Amino acid sequence: MKKTFLFVLVLLTALQPLKADEGMWLPLLISNRIGDMQAKGFRLTAEDVYSVNKASLKDAVVLFGGGCTGEVVSRDGLLFTNHHCGYGQIQQHSSVEHDYLKDGFWAMNKDEELPNPGLTVSFLQRMEEVTEQVLKGYQPSMSETQRDSVVRVNSAAITKSINDPEKGIRSSVEGLYYANQYFLFVYKIYSDVRLVGAPPSSIGKFGGDTDNWMWPRHTGDFAIFRIYANKDNEPAEYSKDNVPYKPKRYFTISRKGVKEGDFTFVYGCPGSTKEYVTSDEVRYIGNVSDPEKIALRTQRLDIQKKYMSQDQAVRIQYSSKNASVSNAWKKWQGEAKGLARRKTVDSKIAFEQDFRNWSKNNQYNGLLDQLSSLYEQRNPYFRASEYYNETVSTIELLTFANRIYTALEAGNPISEIAERFYKDYYQPIDEETFVAMMQAFDKQMSSEFKPSYFTEKLSKYGSIEAWRNDLYAHSLFTDKNKVLKLTKEELSKLDADPAYEMYKAFNQWYRKDIQPPISRISRDIYLAYRKYMKAQMEFQPDKAFYPDANLTLRVAYGKVAGYSPSDAVYYSPVSTLKGIIEKDDPNIFDYNIPQTLRDIYAEGGHDDQPVCFLATNHTSGGNSGSPVINADGELIGINFDRVWEGTMSDLAFDPDFCRNISLDIRYLLFVVDKIGHAKWLLDEMSFAD
Ligand code: ARG
Ligand code: ASP
Repeated sequence: MKKTFLFVLVLLTALQPLKADEGMWLPLLISNRIGDMQAKGFRLTAEDVYSVNKASLKDAVVLFGGGCTGEVVSRDGLLFTNHHCGYGQIQQHSSVEHDYLKDGFWAMNKDEELPNPGLTVSFLQRMEEVTEQVLKGYQPSMSETQRDSVVRVNSAAITKSINDPEKGIRSSVEGLYYANQYFLFVYKIYSDVRLVGAPPSSIGKFGGDTDNWMWPRHTGDFAIFRIYANKDNEPAEYSKDNVPYKPKRYFTISRKGVKEGDFTFVYGCPGSTKEYVTSDEVRYIGNVSDPEKIALRTQRLDIQKKYMSQDQAVRIQYSSKNASVSNAWKKWQGEAKGLARRKTVDSKIAFEQDFRNWSKNNQYNGLLDQLSSLYEQRNPYFRASEYYNETVSTIELLTFANRIYTALEAGNPISEIAERFYKDYYQPIDEETFVAMMQAFDKQMSSEFKPSYFTEKLSKYGSIEAWRNDLYAHSLFTDKNKVLKLTKEELSKLDADPAYEMYKAFNQWYRKDIQPPISRISRDIYLAYRKYMKAQMEFQPDKAFYPDANLTLRVAYGKVAGYSPSDAVYYSPVSTLKGIIEKDDPNIFDYNIPQTLRDIYAEGGHDDQPVCFLATNHTSGGNSGSPVINADGELIGINFDRVWEGTMSDLAFDPDFCRNISLDIRYLLFVVDKIGHAKWLLDEMSFAD
């Protein structure tokens, strides 16, 4: 008996290294985790990860733009991020003559690097806990509104004393753990960030939406930028007199490579997670929100695909729209499936039962019932808002009508808005979307969640199709020439345009009947969560709680590891160039690699060229572009995705399925060298081995 027990224990311990590591930790408090990190192989100290007294790894990590991460890799401010994070910039510099999306872009010296007005990178200078200062003057007898105003006034005083726009210093106070604790984040923001290199999309987006959220993956998802500063190394708007930024710290690159079991550490800015919500919220997401949104998007994607496959021009017009509709669509499928597989609702209910027993005689008694009843009140409105967003708001003609109306009203020029819209507009797709989405709205919303405008129009026309026919036949917005001639004086005429009228009626209904109750109830839910978060911490005093993601800098550590997606299948964690060649097919857009890559492969000797790898780091949207670091603090990869079977990690982490996908840094080096012939960039990097 004892022997069996010991055997199981040994077995469990032996298997432990393959289990994933949940958590996205605050760098400031990393000393609480460093023991565990070191036990798992990390060879640096807490001070090496985060310090305000000396240069540390955090000084080489940036928030890239408003929703990705990037890392500095040279003493001249060279920066890596993902191709999909720099996509907008690459596209902006592209034209028919220079299609950098299609062909890639490689500056051959610093003068050829391309400026990107509006693009910034933010370095975290320091963070500190400021709960006491933020709550100064707060009395427990105060109402929540009074508490809010105390928090607002105190936070504003703190950030005001720090912010210095001329020097690029911006700070923010963030309520973490549902505002049980407040932290100050001080950033230095550089706004001259130039494009240095990007592979062709057939490498940087290889696999496209077919392979998105999937393993095996072979995407060379990287782009290279450079940060510029003024002569004092301070932030400055673009100027040709600016010079390359000299970082406090940059990453050394390791070419040793990775193998299953190796320690990995992702340092970046995850955007949003909800790990501490109740079974009610998980049930709503997994059983209602995800499936319903998936069904609506399936219809839209099918309509788009039908026309895209018939006509090359339409394919180009809708490729970017299609990609963004499909990205969340696929993520939600994995999320709903994962929550069901892991029985997250049931395990939350079991946890809540224990919690109820514990809280019977304390101040938290009744808290879960309160949350349940709040969700019950909120959900019908919330569901209506999701339908509003996924149906009416996806009809392009309606939102375009509103954009034109608003621009005219403000006295702004409309020609650019119109040109951009018509360039990528294909009316048959929009008309079919109109019918499918409005029929779904009609079918799924009960009458109390339909605007009277909708009911009246539908009874007037008798069917959605008839309504559609009339709207597209009579709206001026289907006619580019008429739109371009519009002036402010004609605004009143537009009020009666069927597209604008419909947009406005739905929007007013949404703002008057749907949004206010959601805001009111959501506020109460948030307040209840503040108590519930605190209560969970008291209920589980030995558990280490990491705050939900909010785009602030986090540490996630784990290991290179494969996984088993289904019975009898095991995915090993490293993909190679051989796999790219296996997928290569000139007839399939997503898998049509550049001829150069075929030629290079044909030379031989590149079968084992690594491309991507899987690991167990807990990441989320926003972690794209994050440095993946080895046990010695060297750069081994760039994070860019997760596997779809594990996307429920935003709500609950399943160690068996949650894997992040990274580009192997050696594939970046290979592409820069062999495809970009940009050896000068390699010369600038520094290598550990
Ligand atoms: N799934 C990744 C993320 O959420 C990558 C998306 C970009 N790539 C694409 N094929 N749509 O951002
Ligand atoms: N692809 C995501 C991003 O762009 C990363 C993820 O969701 O895992 O941030």
